Amino acid sequence: MGKNLIKISFCLNSKKVEIEVSPQLTVLEMLRRDFRLTAAKEGCGKGECGACSVLLNGQPINSCLKLAATLKPGDSLISVEGLNDDKLMQNIQEAYVEEGAVQCGFCIPGMTMASYYLLKHNSTPDEHAIKQALSGNICRCTGYRKIEAAVKKAAERTKANE
Ligand code: FES
Ligand code: FES
Repeated sequence: MGKNLIKISFCLNSKKVEIEVSPQLTVLEMLRRDFRLTAAKEGCGKGECGACSVLLNGQPINSCLKLAATLKPGDSLISVEGLNDDKLMQNIQEAYVEEGAVQCGFCIPGMTMASYYLLKHNSTPDEHAIKQALSGNICRCTGYRKIEAAVKKAAERTKANE
């Protein structure tokens, strides 16, 4: 093992992985640099913008704040790439495009992850629930209206296809 490196193992997008990381490496840096999973973005690097959202054991986290070395065997990390074949995520992504909710796109992986978590737990969210669910995610381009409309549309479509 390299000097100062810590060996960790966990589940990444449903596959067991093992890697050596430096103690200061964040989960976001590890995903982007070591696993070349670049959907999650570094916006603020301080837990404020949500662009780096991923799911850890089913809960959304800001991966810029989580140290990779704290991941344990048995932990399950899911990035947007891990949901490519997920029907709910596909409905969300399609609705974002249809509603014109994607402009520069920087916030979108985090936004769609927050939308996914919401719709997983509440299939018929009202406006307040949608705003609440997206409140940790910053978008500089869209003014949020189109994003909220996209989440509503994705919810309706998912419900209709159940
Ligand atoms: S980059 Fe992680 S919250 Fe902004
Ligand atoms: S689409 Fe540009 S930051 Fe949201």
